[in-house]
Amino acid sequence: MIKAAILTISDKGSRGEREDKSGEVIKEKLREIRADVIAYEIIPDERSVIAERLKHLAESANLILTTGGTGVSPRDVTPEATRDVIEKELPGFSEAMRAESFKITPRALGSRTVSGIYKETLIINLPGSPKAVSECFDVVSKSISHVLDLIKGIVDDCGRK
Ligand code: MTE
Repeated sequence: MIKAAILTISDKGSRGEREDKSGEVIKEKLREIRADVIAYEIIPDERSVIAERLKHLAESANLILTTGGTGVSPRDVTPEATRDVIEKELPGFSEAMRAESFKITPRALGSRTVSGIYKETLIINLPGSPKAVSECFDVVSKSISHVLDLIKGIVDDCGRK
């Protein structure tokens, strides 16, 4: 069973000034892959806060999906905070999301999402808009359970499966 946490990163959202539609989209997407959503938080675009919450959520979740703060605005620091935490980067997740998203909108290249592993938890940054969340999740969703199995050592010879 996938135990998933959602971390919405938004200054306005954390102050209650913006409805978190992207978090709702992620919840729906996680239902589709039958993941159990065990935590959902909205926090400001603060590098140290993001890193602290990622580490905390990783104690109970084996998948963390973040949304927001991946662009190039002055307050966007989600990729930096994620890199502060992950021990192994999994560039393919973000590369695939950007490549597929670029077929939909040239704006996709303005997103700097990072993906990687901290302890036994897969962390994937998604961009901020509900549309982008939906599009990007669909690109990587089929790869998630395989990577989680590899992290846990359930699959040790995946080429033969
Ligand atoms: N990716 C997809 N698939 N669809 C989109 O509409 N929007 C882009 C990009 N990635 C988009 C996308 C835009 S407009 C921005 S500014 C960046 O994601 C970064 O968004 P963020 O700073 O809210 O994370």
